[in-house]
Amino acid sequence: MKFKNKTIYECVECGWEHPKWNGQCANCGEWNTLEEKKPEAFEQLAGITNVSSGNSKKANTRPEALQLNDIDCSEDVRFDTGTSELNRVLGGGLVKGSVVLLSGEPGIGKSTLLLQICAEMGQKVLYVTGEESQRQIKIRANRLGYIDTQNLLITQSTDLLGIATTIKEEKPDIAVIDSIQTMRLDSLSSSQGSVTQVRECTNLLIALAKSMEIPVIIVGHVNKDGGIAGPKVLEHIVDTVLYFEGDRRLSYRILRAVKNRYGSTNEIGVFEMQDKGLKQVENPSAMLLSGRPNGVSGISVLCTMEGTRPILAEVQALVTKSGFPSPRRVSNGFDYNRLCLILAVLEKRTDVFFGSCDVYINIIGGLSATEPAADLAVALALYSGICDISIPETLAVFGEIGLGGEIRSVGNTKERIRECARMGFTHCIIPDNKAVPKNADIKITPVSNLKQMIHSISTTK
Ligand code: TYD
Ligand code: MG
Repeated sequence: MKFKNKTIYECVECGWEHPKWNGQCANCGEWNTLEEKKPEAFEQLAGITNVSSGNSKKANTRPEALQLNDIDCSEDVRFDTGTSELNRVLGGGLVKGSVVLLSGEPGIGKSTLLLQICAEMGQKVLYVTGEESQRQIKIRANRLGYIDTQNLLITQSTDLLGIATTIKEEKPDIAVIDSIQTMRLDSLSSSQGSVTQVRECTNLLIALAKSMEIPVIIVGHVNKDGGIAGPKVLEHIVDTVLYFEGDRRLSYRILRAVKNRYGSTNEIGVFEMQDKGLKQVENPSAMLLSGRPNGVSGISVLCTMEGTRPILAEVQALVTKSGFPSPRRVSNGFDYNRLCLILAVLEKRTDVFFGSCDVYINIIGGLSATEPAADLAVALALYSGICDISIPETLAVFGEIGLGGEIRSVGNTKERIRECARMGFTHCIIPDNKAVPKNADIKITPVSNLKQMIHSISTTK
């Protein structure tokens, strides 16, 4: 909202702008949080970054218009981060002049990941820490085995104007700010970590990244309840937003891009937290399939696409007699409503009945199977569970289930089959369509409905 030539009152908690002073913020409901927005703060920012703000006199200078053909981008504009999982998520490397927000819950491993990347990248990196001391960073680096790293500069400060000066003087190839919630601009009256501080600090860093053409990585915490000063406000001003997620009790971590101006947002990177830092998991299928029990009913293997990468994972279904008037349906890693739909289709189109049974579905390894191609594996696990028959462990399936019990085709069939063959599967049940690919290493059974799938299972046994 813009209020021309008028004083603006801004809530220091949520950043909402009001045309006049009020006791209570109309947006977040907090009392006594409205303050007059001071224009000097922005002039100061404009001074340090040499970027003209809307208030400055330079605003009227005519910006140059270039023809698309004349814009030079021949130079290599991406840095290799030395970590292939991160490169993939970023769309091929870290783009010069871009601002990347890395967010995740406290303790998930953001600082560890960044320190590892900085040490392995082979570029001059300025790592600014507002949370830990330089000594603590050194202890972590020793733990990770980086005893003799020369290109890594560590600064401990929370004063962003000072940091901006250090960045301008040191001229690093990459700057890392850990974390944005600890940074402050003294010219703003609101407290550290408030929305106004977080937003203005990020604006300054963006201006710095663009003017110096260096990538800046910003760490942002998310609160459990998606808190007010979380990185949500920043998502639309930065170039790339990465989420580092996973269960802190498990060692696997998934790095996911939720916004990327320079690449796809479908890619994921998989890491494992070990006692000497994060290790890339280049073969997630092997990790997700390890420890699979043999000859147990209710288990099937699905093949899902995560971006351009096919991943195999184990689906477990437990179907037990219910002791309750309304049976329980519990789903972990698979959409609950989709589970109910598959149960209904199985009941209607085949001769199984789940009405008096509790049903539990679990996708192993903390993976979320959001793709419709996972339907068939879930249906197979449910069928196997209720009939108490085990599925051959060399069988993998994928396909979407329609309400008529038909199996519909999904994309990337060739890549999925190749991954199944690579992981040692000898049989694959896939949707029947005109272009069923051939593969000498694996038996492919195309099916067009659930009855056919059940028939092919019983004949395989
Ligand atoms: P940290 O990177 O400090 O998390 P964040 O910056 O996201 O808050 O890492 C936190 C956890 O990682 C901490 O609980 C300890 C664990 N850890 C390991 O298991 N192995 C290691 O080598 C390191 C450095 C940390
Ligand atoms: Mg940290």
